[in-house]
Amino acid sequence: MNLKLATLSAAVVLGLSLTAPAVASQTLAQFHGEMGGCETCHAGEKLKDIKAGLTDSQTHENKMCVECHGGYEELKSTKPNTHIDPHSSHLGDINCTACHAAHDKPEMTCNRCHNFDFEMPFADAKQKKAWNGDWNQEKIQAAIAKGPQETVDVIVVGGGSAGLNAAMAAKMKGASVVLLEKNDYTGGNSMLAAGGYNASETRQQKEKGVPDTKELFVADAMKGGRNQNDIELVKVLAEHSAEGIEWLESLGANMEDLKFSGGQTEMRTHRPAGGYSVGPHIIDTLRKAAIKHDVDVRVNSRVEKIVLNDDQSIAGVVVHGRHTGYKMIAADAVILATGGYGMNKEMVAYYRPTMADMTSSNNITATGDGILLAKEIGASMTDIDWVQAHPTIGKDSRILISETVRGVGAIMVNIHGERFISEMTTRDRASDAVLKQPEQYAWLVFDQQLVEKKKMVEGFDHLGMLSKANTVAELAEITGMKNLAATVTEYNQFYKDGKDPKFGRSALPADIVKAPFYAVKVAPGIHHTMGGVAIDTDANVLNLQSWKMEGLYAAGEVTGGIHGYNRLGGNAVADTVVFGKIAGENAAKFALEKK
Ligand code: SIN
Repeated sequence: MNLKLATLSAAVVLGLSLTAPAVASQTLAQFHGEMGGCETCHAGEKLKDIKAGLTDSQTHENKMCVECHGGYEELKSTKPNTHIDPHSSHLGDINCTACHAAHDKPEMTCNRCHNFDFEMPFADAKQKKAWNGDWNQEKIQAAIAKGPQETVDVIVVGGGSAGLNAAMAAKMKGASVVLLEKNDYTGGNSMLAAGGYNASETRQQKEKGVPDTKELFVADAMKGGRNQNDIELVKVLAEHSAEGIEWLESLGANMEDLKFSGGQTEMRTHRPAGGYSVGPHIIDTLRKAAIKHDVDVRVNSRVEKIVLNDDQSIAGVVVHGRHTGYKMIAADAVILATGGYGMNKEMVAYYRPTMADMTSSNNITATGDGILLAKEIGASMTDIDWVQAHPTIGKDSRILISETVRGVGAIMVNIHGERFISEMTTRDRASDAVLKQPEQYAWLVFDQQLVEKKKMVEGFDHLGMLSKANTVAELAEITGMKNLAATVTEYNQFYKDGKDPKFGRSALPADIVKAPFYAVKVAPGIHHTMGGVAIDTDANVLNLQSWKMEGLYAAGEVTGGIHGYNRLGGNAVADTVVFGKIAGENAAKFALEKK
């Protein structure tokens, strides 16, 4: 390996500040070009060869980065103790080119949500114009007129958990599959999921003696959703929830840990052992499984149209490739797995104007594309105006403080340090209660016992979000919560007694006794859009007359009906796996039978 490059890239991957080895305005491409010409990175020296070898995922270019510099794991091992490693928190192993745009200014992908202040090499290169502009109707129509450039059995739109599960399931049923993701890496909102996966009657529950049933799962989801859920969809979710866990385990996931989330009668939130976040773990597992099973996953590939035949059957899609432009791909079945619209300000303002100014915990990918694509061809929508506020997003940030932090023992208090609601109530009630506080924010308070159980809290500390003290009295002093000590003493007594007579908190898993003590400011923010494309129990999309739209399937947050007016924590990840798999299997069956 070239040592100069190795050192440079290790620092870059680990997010370390370093001086660019070049004069101002030089680009990474110029720097590499001087070493060995265009061929250093591209598949050829001449423009025509470079163009012929260029894919939207920049497959060859990324392979060359890894060949010269080593892969992520190798680079990481050069700085094992650094805490500034975005990849290990939730990005995972993504294409180098997602951040290191060779011919332009590099992009600080993490700063789409965070505010890190570190330099990237070649940071003063010229910024390329944004790719995410308006969908170009002229180019879409030209691509349709030209006809399909490729044909597959199943096209999956979106590369979060629902899309990756659907693609894997379709592939395993023998279909040829292409997954198209508009972002420069897969993962969607799922890669930020910090809670867990709700499932009933699992091996894990049986081993721990948790007396849960599928019927209780359904009852809790219906109660949480204010009985506005489509009960048939909820029954399917509960019925297949344990099977979904086994499927993930068969692909290499660890789902050993069990926690409570809000609105649960029994403990059914499954997570990886060791306090790791569920979303990044599942996405990492699915990314690796997709490579192993040779699923064609393409990033930088935005679907801008679902194309129908004259008889209204599915003809395929028009995809806009970041590097290759517009083209039509033919398929008999299309699966929409594009996620919700929690990051589309216009859609939130239209469907839920009261939330238009709220922050959002969502990934930048959650822009409602699938809803727009499906609406355009006559799909029906369910509960489209129902948007969930999560009560504990770090105040003035986009960082979610998972409900499982309360699930393992944190208390929620007002600015005086007084509890005001059961911490384990449903999200809509908890968010309303916070917004009724005059200051419209609250504090979560916990101790070192909790930090030891929940790895993710270390991340909040590194992000500078936590107030920390050696005694509760000192924490009260720092934060101005004058009644905090009395509240903690009272709460610790409730823990000893095993019941909370004040607010009826269902789970009291720990007391708050071990120093240091911590507090983090939280406020409600947009977290999940419950409404979306209407589907039946086969994940088949329904039209305005509630008839099946043959060949069109949808799964995950793009759909409506499963969660009613309020989703329970842990039910979204389950939804993406269970309905992703159902959509993939049914789409494969449909396409293969049509042949
Ligand atoms: C959380 O951990 O609070 C979010 C998980 C979810 O929305 O299911």
